[in-house]
Amino acid sequence: MSKSNRAHFGTKLGVILASAGSAVGLGNIWRFPYETGNHGGAAFILTYLGCVLILGAPIMIAEFLIGRRSRANTARAYQNLAPGTQWKWVGRMGVLTGFLILGYYSVVAGWTLEYTTQSVTNSFAGQDAEGFIALFGNFVANPWRPVLWMAVFMLATHFIVVRGVERGIEKASKVMMPMLFILLLILVACAVSLPNAGKGMEFLLKPDFSKVDGSVLLGAMGQAFFSLSVGMGCLCTYASYFKPDTNLGRTAFSVAVIDTMVAILAGFIIFPAAFSVGIQPDMGPSLLFITLPNVFQQAFGGLPWLAVLLSVMFYILLALAALTSTISLHEVVTAYLHEEFSMSRRKAAWLVTGGCTFLGVFCSLSLGVGKEYTLFGMTLFDLFDFVTAKIMLPLGGFFISLFAGWYLDKRVLWEEITNRGTLKVQLYRLIVFILKFIAPIGIAFIFINELGLI
Ligand code: PHE
Repeated sequence: MSKSNRAHFGTKLGVILASAGSAVGLGNIWRFPYETGNHGGAAFILTYLGCVLILGAPIMIAEFLIGRRSRANTARAYQNLAPGTQWKWVGRMGVLTGFLILGYYSVVAGWTLEYTTQSVTNSFAGQDAEGFIALFGNFVANPWRPVLWMAVFMLATHFIVVRGVERGIEKASKVMMPMLFILLLILVACAVSLPNAGKGMEFLLKPDFSKVDGSVLLGAMGQAFFSLSVGMGCLCTYASYFKPDTNLGRTAFSVAVIDTMVAILAGFIIFPAAFSVGIQPDMGPSLLFITLPNVFQQAFGGLPWLAVLLSVMFYILLALAALTSTISLHEVVTAYLHEEFSMSRRKAAWLVTGGCTFLGVFCSLSLGVGKEYTLFGMTLFDLFDFVTAKIMLPLGGFFISLFAGWYLDKRVLWEEITNRGTLKVQLYRLIVFILKFIAPIGIAFIFINELGLI
């Protein structure tokens, strides 16, 4: 596609909302709480915040500038900016990462649809914590239902991606982001007023730094990349649709703040609620799905219609938040196939949808009938999560920071970050310093420390 006929996002708010729509999703509301629970609470959260600030946000700026400068899908972007070099592999690895993430992410996204229908039919009424654990266990062990929901979700993603950037992505994000935020605030208020919620607050707020070991560092780094959608060219692809006057630094900052706030709010719902009913915080991927129904039942037990209304709304918004993330993942791979192999967008999108559904089936089954088949002690689902979030995204981030910090001409950095000198960016030197030194050294240190790469 030539430069001039590439699509654009319509408005400034649209730019932020679409990027935030990619960032805010299951990573914040489903993955953040269970990683926090697995890694002991407050100390993990602080480490995570450090990773967002020092690694995630600066690398997001780097992705933005690479994308907008090159106006191409993420693989082509590196070829445009560094012709004849091997940097293109950074982009290609990103496309592969996106494909793999979409494969297991859509499984969890499918769960949100099941929970939407369960709350519409009010089948959570009268259950206790034990009941919710059993309900979730039975559901994921079923060979059909989760697979069907996953496929439904993939198709929904597919049709929005086929409709194109502006109409699909931007519109969807504009309505649902603010609504989700308000609902989360209501749920925080409910959760913190449950009996025994105090223990959950303590878990969230009292750091025990003796718990910060290599696995906490790797977990926090992986979560920061995953949650911000950084490290695989997703925001790079979106930035290729940005206009010349988009303020990259400010957009990155806004996205990071919105994304982090949503994650923290989710924490303030899940942990007070989990401790209140005696659910262990380290339940893993099921944590959100067994904890949340308790909040609705306990807080609104006396007003069943309100419990139904709020839970239906919540699961719909969660599904929509997941949708704006799956759209962004899908778009990366679709734009790559469409522009690199000169196939129609429709055909490219079908290939992605088909391939990811295929992966999704195996990931879904690996939690039920295929539980015995493990690799490195992990189910396929856990393996995909580990390899993408904790290895491929940070590795992508490592190379992106090297590319922006060392390979690209300083003039390019300056032109993109300051919009050719029209913006005063106070932190400009700091951003460049982080991209050059702190980010690559920090990521390498965490890898070496935990994975024993040397
Ligand atoms: N950031 C998304 C979320 O938190 C997931 C995602 C990861 C999306 C990587 C795109 C790229 O749900």
